[in-house]
Amino acid sequence: MQVIKTKEYAEMSHVAGVIAEGLIRQKPNAVLGLATGSTPLGLYAHLVKAHQQNGLDFRHVTTFNLDEYLDLPKEHPQSYHTFMEENLFQYVNISSEHIHFPDEDYDAIEENAEAYDARIHRAGGIDLQVLGIGRNGHIAFNEPAEELAFFTSRVTLTPSTREANARFFSSVEEVPTHAVSSGMGTILQARHLLILANGEDKRDAVSRLLDGHTLTTDCPVTFALMHPHVTLIVDEAAAGC
Ligand code: GLP
Repeated sequence: MQVIKTKEYAEMSHVAGVIAEGLIRQKPNAVLGLATGSTPLGLYAHLVKAHQQNGLDFRHVTTFNLDEYLDLPKEHPQSYHTFMEENLFQYVNISSEHIHFPDEDYDAIEENAEAYDARIHRAGGIDLQVLGIGRNGHIAFNEPAEELAFFTSRVTLTPSTREANARFFSSVEEVPTHAVSSGMGTILQARHLLILANGEDKRDAVSRLLDGHTLTTDCPVTFALMHPHVTLIVDEAAAGC
């Protein structure tokens, strides 16, 4: 695991942005795995700027988002479809046919757990998977539990995640109780994991990655320790120094 310690959020986002931009320049038909949440906002802003000011071309780029709430219309201001549209897709020349979210395969997933994973596979697999970390160590919506799902599936959100995400809604009751989330296998099959973490809230999960000794379903991000190509970019607050 390559660890890059940065001073603060802006530097973390810049370093991440340079990596993602470099991939798209080198491989114009790159397949990106994308995350939501506040963490990757600076990275997306970097990509938008690279497109608008330096011609970064998204025409042949394909994206697969990690997760989406269930029982929230796509058009809802807090849906992850809306989030991606508002923070990246509307500003770049990506083709709508190349954009994928796991809820679109929800019915198929109910029938066949491998449906979203198969779609990713048909696209050539994910070249770069962007990951934020939940305060409780979740990735996508793979919550701490005794068992973790391998394939993309319907998940129940923990009270702590619903509370953490309540800041985007008017109350915690409005936060959906369920989501469809890429599984641990879906994520770990990406060729390169780009994990971003900033702020004190992430210190516990980051310290488990930096410690590097234990994989635990109590902290799903620790499974990234098994992956051969991980870049972890943290700021000082998350790294605890
Ligand atoms: C959500 C998303 C995760 C994200 C996490 C962290 O629950 N499902 O993919 O990594 O929040 O959010 P933030 O980046 O706002 O701290």
